[in-house]
Amino acid sequence: MFIRMRLFKCLFSITLISFISNNYQIIAVHGTVQQNENKPHIIFILADDLGFDDVSFRGSGEFLTPNIDALAYHGKILDRLYAPAICTPSRAALLTGRYPIHTGTQHFVISNEEPWGLPTNLTILPEIFQKAGYSTNLVGKWHLGFAKRELTPTFRGFDHHYGYWGDFIDYYQRRSKMPTPHFAMGYDFYRDMELECVDRGTYVTDLFTREAERIILANNNTQPLLLIMSHLAVHTGNDEEPLQAPVDEIEKFQYIKDPNRRIYAAMVSRLDWSVGRVVRTLEKVNMLENSIIIFQSDNGGPSIGLFANSASNWPFRGQKKTPWEGGVRVAGAIWSPLIRGRGTLFPSTMYIGDWLPTLAAAANIPLDTSTLRLDGIDLWSTLGGDDSFNQSAQIKVEREIVHTIDAVWHVAALQQGDWKYVNGTVAAGQFDNVLTYRELSDTDPRNLDYYAAIENSTASQVLRKYDQTQLQRELVNQLRHDATVRCGGGVQHSCNALLEECMYNVAVDPCERNNLAASSEYNDILVRMRKRVQQRRRTAWSISNRSGRLEFSPSHHRCTWTNFLEDAPSEEALDCGLYGAPCETEV
Ligand SMILES: *[C@@H]1O[C@H](CO)[C@@H](O)[C@H](O)[C@H]1NC(C)=O
Ligand SMILES: *[C@@H]1O[C@H](CO)[C@@H](O)[C@H](O)[C@H]1NC(C)=O
Ligand SMILES: *[C@@H]1O[C@H](CO)[C@@H](O)[C@H](O)[C@H]1NC(C)=O
Ligand SMILES: *[C@@H]1O[C@H](CO)[C@@H](O)[C@H](O)[C@H]1NC(C)=O
Ligand SMILES: *[C@@H]1O[C@H](CO)[C@@H](O)[C@H](O)[C@H]1NC(C)=O
Repeated sequence: MFIRMRLFKCLFSITLISFISNNYQIIAVHGTVQQNENKPHIIFILADDLGFDDVSFRGSGEFLTPNIDALAYHGKILDRLYAPAICTPSRAALLTGRYPIHTGTQHFVISNEEPWGLPTNLTILPEIFQKAGYSTNLVGKWHLGFAKRELTPTFRGFDHHYGYWGDFIDYYQRRSKMPTPHFAMGYDFYRDMELECVDRGTYVTDLFTREAERIILANNNTQPLLLIMSHLAVHTGNDEEPLQAPVDEIEKFQYIKDPNRRIYAAMVSRLDWSVGRVVRTLEKVNMLENSIIIFQSDNGGPSIGLFANSASNWPFRGQKKTPWEGGVRVAGAIWSPLIRGRGTLFPSTMYIGDWLPTLAAAANIPLDTSTLRLDGIDLWSTLGGDDSFNQSAQIKVEREIVHTIDAVWHVAALQQGDWKYVNGTVAAGQFDNVLTYRELSDTDPRNLDYYAAIENSTASQVLRKYDQTQLQRELVNQLRHDATVRCGGGVQHSCNALLEECMYNVAVDPCERNNLAASSEYNDILVRMRKRVQQRRRTAWSISNRSGRLEFSPSHHRCTWTNFLEDAPSEEALDCGLYGAPCETEV
């Protein structure tokens, strides 16, 4: 057991050394490339509630995502990318580089009427990049609190925000009604601190795309750009119409029999279109050659239950909110001409909280690690960000991830290298099985010549200029085959996480079918992981949640979700109906 522990430590220090040498090499070798004025542009595209199997580079032919796939094939598939299983903790981990237990966000999400947010004593990613000279922009969803102004994006390091503060909105009307009883429908759409009424009625994925394009064109390579595109897609809207997509987009998927899945495919497809547009716009102003583009989902897709959007996490068990791979292993890819060894699967386990130190290293921004106290690790050189990268001697970083330690729902999930420990589950176990199967009878006609569809995508047409070796049909087919998750054997030793500890080797058993906790052969690993959970639990912050009061409802705030702790509630409650807006127009 001791030796194994040391192995982990040792691998951590390899990363640390490569981080140091990375900086050194940048100064020594790329002195002219990586100087301040030439810091890379960073475009981070975050999907909301996208299923693991809903990007076609994972092998599904039900509906294609040619632009996202092109990004992955011309760049790297982040094969083993993990994130917390729900929105607020996942976004908190992205922006702080810490586990949710170290930001007080480990239990559930911030419902709009709740007066709390990401603690302001934490220094977050946009603040760090803003201080280093970046133009910092958030387009889309925030979901880290807005009860007070100081919790909102432009008070937290973003020069500019265009989008919504809360959990979700309607794709056209930009309002939301929380599932909490008695709270009214409220409008939630801002340009910086001002309510934005312009273009109400236009599909919001298109609006976010247009805003991203505007920001890129206005930047025109004059300042290092940080652009976080935090899409509403493919989260649900409000109850009366949870799935929404433009009619012309839905028409492309008439062959999909399930009507919800058909609209969902259209929502994903519009998101894919957006990725192509952003890539093309970056190229237009010559920013692409110095850009890092990341695409990923914030968590697994909710196939059933609250906010179900008909996403598929096949072949994993579980979904959004659960500790299983279907909740925490997410679709993702990175593209940048600055990384070596493109056109491959990145083999290391990666965590959403790794982006902060990784991107800081890419931008040569020194971090004050003693105050940041990061859980994320810098993987920039491992990803191929410097000359030390050697494809044939690629280091597989064996990192630890605390997926969750939630004292309210009594769930703990920890990963060390290939080992995963799960104790407890959510919703009395009702989301613990495989909830979807890959649809084989409904096939995208473009899947007949998949390579042609990839080659034909906007993203591929632009990105191929930067290829080290030209992308070929054989390589695309090989990568797609390699990125298709295979389950290993059948269920041998099932585990009921409500009653017992479960432990899996997810490298050989990604579908979590064969519980090794009961086997004496692995007892030392089980004991080690159990102890580690107990140890990590002692470091957890208490949860920062606060419950809402009816005076926070939009009905007391002009039918808007506003900074309600600072905005005096009206005496009279307005009837916001389905309208929920101070804006004059409803299209
Ligand atoms: C930051 O704030 C959180 C919650 O408000 C608290 O638990 C934590 O101890 C604070 N940390 C520091 C370093 O002040
Ligand atoms: C970007 O800047 C270049 C000069 O550096 C200029 O020629 C070009 O018109 C600008 N493009 C846009 C879209 O503003
Ligand atoms: C290629 O793209 C064009 C325009 O986007 C589209 O009309 C055409 O159907 C595509 N062809 C294939 C093979 O995907
Ligand atoms: C596992 O779950 C049980 C029941 O909630 C709890 O008593 C125990 O402390 C947990 N063990 C760990 C290591 O989290
Ligand atoms: C935080 O959430 C937990 C679990 O739902 C609840 O028991 C507790 O009362 C909440 N705390 C506050 C201050 O609302």
